[in-house]
Amino acid sequence: MPHIAIISSSIRKGRNSHRVALFFKNYLEQYDLATTEILDLLEYNFPLFDERLKFQEFPSPEVLDFAGKINAADGIIIITPEYNGGYPASLKNVIDLLINEWHHKPVAISTVSDGPFGGTQVITSLQFSLWKIRAWTVPAMFPVTRISETFDDKGIPNDKATTEKRAENFIREILWCIEAKNRML
Ligand SMILES: Cc1cc2nc3c(=O)[nH]c(=O)nc-3n(C[C@H](O)[C@H](O)[C@H](O)COP(=O)(O)O)c2cc1C
Repeated sequence: MPHIAIISSSIRKGRNSHRVALFFKNYLEQYDLATTEILDLLEYNFPLFDERLKFQEFPSPEVLDFAGKINAADGIIIITPEYNGGYPASLKNVIDLLINEWHHKPVAISTVSDGPFGGTQVITSLQFSLWKIRAWTVPAMFPVTRISETFDDKGIPNDKATTEKRAENFIREILWCIEAKNRML
């Protein structure tokens, strides 16, 4: 069974996009699609980027732990909020931190906002950064609109049937990429 790490990237006080990370963890486990874990950037509490891990003389245990988990995962789901049309600094912080760990890594992106557009303006800038770091961005979308109303704080969606149908389509794409990559090895 593949292992999918879910990056919950909002570190904002009172954050809501973490609900989507909880949803995907529940969903993947409930339907036995993957083993999974949430890499919570709020918990990691990384300092602002000063150098890539590869060039750090004394990397912190947290940075080593995060890098090991990205490296070991077969695929990654990034949950990102939209802040002023972009993705949060906390996420750029960890993209820049690593190099080889991202290479050829299937990465699917779920964007979140509290408005009607589901954070979709984030997609192009985030995909571009992931492409630059040579990750394998999965061509699937999972925009979440009006997060404070559509999911509760345990990650349970209001409209379970529709949300799970959308999740099925989204997850199918990352699982396909994971399998395709495994066949190359
Ligand atoms: C600094 C900041 C900028 C935001 N900019 C946008 C935006 O450009 N577009 C949008 O739809 N929502 C925007 N929002 C609303 C967020 O999408 C909403 O607060 C969402 O819950 C953010 O995820 P979080 O709660 O996990 O931090 C912004 C929120 C913050 C805090």
